Amino acid sequence: MDASGAPPLLLAAAAFAAAALVWLFVARPSRRGSARLPPGSTGLPLIGETLRLISAYKTPNPEPFIDERVARHGSGVFTTHVFGERTVFSADPAFNRLLLAAEGRAVDCSYPSSITTLLGPHSLLLTRGPAHKRLHSLTLTRLGRPASPPLLAHIDRLILATMRDWEPAATVRLLDEAKKVTFNLTVKQLVSIDPGPWTESVRREYVKLIDGFFSIPFPFAHLLPFTTYGQALKARKKVAGALREVISRRMDEKLVDRAADSGEDEKIEKKDMVQELLEAEDGSFSVEEMVDFCLSLLVAGYETTSVLMTLAVKFLTETPTALAQLKVPYSFPVLYLEVCQGYPTNQPKEEHENIRDIKGKNQPLEWSDYKSMPFTQCVINETLRVANLISGVFRRANTDIQFKDYIIPKGCKIFASFRAVHLNTEHYENARTFDPWRWQSKNKLQNAVGASLFTPFGGGPRLCPGYELARVVVSVFLHHLVTRFSWEEAEEDRIVFFPTTRTLKGYPINLRRRPNSVA
Ligand code: HEM
Repeated sequence: MDASGAPPLLLAAAAFAAAALVWLFVARPSRRGSARLPPGSTGLPLIGETLRLISAYKTPNPEPFIDERVARHGSGVFTTHVFGERTVFSADPAFNRLLLAAEGRAVDCSYPSSITTLLGPHSLLLTRGPAHKRLHSLTLTRLGRPASPPLLAHIDRLILATMRDWEPAATVRLLDEAKKVTFNLTVKQLVSIDPGPWTESVRREYVKLIDGFFSIPFPFAHLLPFTTYGQALKARKKVAGALREVISRRMDEKLVDRAADSGEDEKIEKKDMVQELLEAEDGSFSVEEMVDFCLSLLVAGYETTSVLMTLAVKFLTETPTALAQLKVPYSFPVLYLEVCQGYPTNQPKEEHENIRDIKGKNQPLEWSDYKSMPFTQCVINETLRVANLISGVFRRANTDIQFKDYIIPKGCKIFASFRAVHLNTEHYENARTFDPWRWQSKNKLQNAVGASLFTPFGGGPRLCPGYELARVVVSVFLHHLVTRFSWEEAEEDRIVFFPTTRTLKGYPINLRRRPNSVA
């Protein structure tokens, strides 16, 4: 019996009856209202179609969830009911574009409260209006310039340091290694701290925080410290505390520097995100604002970049011709592809071996090297297209929105599905097959229409500020992996898409250092 003294079964029955009434009169669209909404079904009371969506996305092939609804309703925009709310689901590229561009006006981004609590009120992902515009452009200034020499050098060095820890013949879970690299890189950019005991202790808490984002929130989870979400809240406090300490110290140093009017060399060395924040807007950001801001960057780039690295390697392993084109001298499979299959011949072969030959074994990669990896960019694009690390974005209508014959009422939740567009055979031939050659230059994917279909990094005012950085990191990682190692899958692993896109086992591979490669 609970505190109110009512037997639990009776309470459950009463709760169910109340929920059914709410569904009948509130959640279920009225005949009048539904006539103007995109067609669809809101499924079962309360849970709607949530369980169907989750079970589809827990398989390697979730496409039927969207395909069936698009076919049934004859429209790329349909209504469903997921995660406790009626939601308009868009598989239409034109409507997606409109939604991305209308951010901050007709729509606003929308996250559940369990996520906003973990992010913190000053997170870039949650700020709105002019404050968002300023913070977004500040982030782009810092992250959107991976060409600047210290950043590329850090990326090169940190990736090599991780690979040096691998035994000459070892089994590693690639996703774990990729996460280590991504975390250390982001910390370096934020606060200029190299991997060591501090980063390791923060990382231990940080992974618990990340788990919280993907736990299924249920009421009062924040009061239960043993749940994944409860643990995540505790971990957030610890990570924020560690960042707060570093940022406060940097603020004190800045005051001392100002007083002594010195430390130019030091400042140049520490031109990191915190420095950018300390100097921005006449130094008016509070410590808490900076902590939330840094935390949001740590969170936003972590899963995405590390899964992109892992899946690029998985797809390459499963597509030996693509891997061959990336690394080895003019090989039989490449020859076969070009001569017998008619794939273009205008791309450089053995992309990464060529770069190494020209540079010599120990030289760090430079911007010009990154720019001479065209096939690697095809591999990255294709991995982004097929894997859909962010399968789409949620928005909430700030006003009634008209699209075609439909009206989406103010307050309604909308999901712009990138995945549905990226895997649509109307837009991409053999859309569900990994085919990096489709991205080779001067085809229809490279023109404005092609570019508007491909939105792995979103678009509009919330376009991902880490889009170029993620590409650079993955390109450098692939360069060092293919020139130094050969590998095969240690065990079969498969991709799932809920709660996030990842492989079930973290993609274990058996690595072997290639003869004559640099240690
Ligand atoms: C493969 C890697 C990545 C993918 C696929 C990706 C994807 C996205 C997408 C789709 C959005 C738009 C969200 C929306 O419109 O609501 C976004 C936003 C964002 N991303 Fe990324 N991202 C990646 C890497 C990164 C990295 C490396 C960073 C930073 C270190 C980063 C930081 C952010 C931030 C801060 C936002 C929020 C921007 C805002 O709300 O103004 N991302 N990302």
